[in-house]
Amino acid sequence: MFKVAVIGASGLLGRAVVRELAAETPWQVVPTAFRHGGPQQAVLDVRDAQAVNAFVEREAPDAIVLAAAERRPDVCEHDPAAARALNVDAVRRVAAAARQRGAWVLSISTDYVFDGTQPPYRIGDTPNPLNAYGHSKLEGERALLETSDKALVLRLPLLYGPIVGWHESAVTGLVPAIIASGEPGAQAAPMDAWATRYPTFTPDVAFVIRELLLRCADGEPVCGVAQWSGDEPMTKYDIAQRIAQALGVEARLLAQPSPTDATPRPRDCHLDSSRLETLGMGRRTPFDAAIRAVLDAFMRDGTQRSV
Ligand SMILES: NC(=O)c1ccc[n+]([C@@H]2O[C@H](COP(=O)([O-])OP(=O)(O)OC[C@H]3O[C@@H](n4cnc5c(N)ncnc54)[C@H](OP(=O)(O)O)[C@@H]3O)[C@@H](O)[C@H]2O)c1
Repeated sequence: MFKVAVIGASGLLGRAVVRELAAETPWQVVPTAFRHGGPQQAVLDVRDAQAVNAFVEREAPDAIVLAAAERRPDVCEHDPAAARALNVDAVRRVAAAARQRGAWVLSISTDYVFDGTQPPYRIGDTPNPLNAYGHSKLEGERALLETSDKALVLRLPLLYGPIVGWHESAVTGLVPAIIASGEPGAQAAPMDAWATRYPTFTPDVAFVIRELLLRCADGEPVCGVAQWSGDEPMTKYDIAQRIAQALGVEARLLAQPSPTDATPRPRDCHLDSSRLETLGMGRRTPFDAAIRAVLDAFMRDGTQRSV
């Protein structure tokens, strides 16, 4: 039976991928976690070469989805060496182990490989990252494609989806400030109205990844670089307004017309998704419906981790 290893299955995206594969395929799925694993997940530190090789040898997967990374730009900016260890060196290591085994590897990258000055970005456009996170992810892309020709980089923009804590996603991370701003006598919450984002729902990405895995299972793996993005442009101010509406909160939000983050971020990295669209792949759940589902589930289930 076709076997898929999902490395980083305890994270925001990895959980959605495991859920999609478990619900929609008969395949054998081997999820791994590092610090937040459940009983059904193997513990794997991707910085440990021996452990990575032993895992791939033992499990012998046909495909590997690599969703483990350091994805927080501020953390990468403060410790670029630690970011490289995960976002570059570990990618090369997993790709080498996969090549030995003949497995296809899908590794997740980001719209932050671009500088955000000339959207939309096609897959062949020249990257020019503005921060340490973007640099490390771009190097990780190159490490993957240099190491194996049976590999795909999938670039994604800002993600949101089922969470185990508000701050797991930069979208739901706005919720505490939105709610607090609606309290009597509270100050308005400042929200970035400068950068345009394309929030993308993790179950939709998981759907795309399943379609890509199907191609691999059929012996026609998609390789090189692909991109997938939601198609609703929004600033964080717009996102906050729509979340406030979904929550029924009379939020007081203050639009910030210029960037306020210490870590430089691109203004608009809209990713062109036409390679996958041409292959007939993709699904886009409307933001308002998706965010309502995420908020409702989190309010109902609290911090239960369901992987
Ligand atoms: N989130 C976004 O908005 C966004 C946007 C664009 C692209 N991406 C990319 O999408 C991918 C998934 O991101 P995400 O948001 O799902 O990240 P996340 O929620 O932070 O999850 C990161 C995953 O990496 C695992 N991990 C961390 N250190 C590890 C180590 N040393 N060895 C093995 N696993 C380790 C974590 O495991 P434990 O928690 O068990 O330690 C977790 O499963 C990343 O490549 C990211 O760069 C994310």
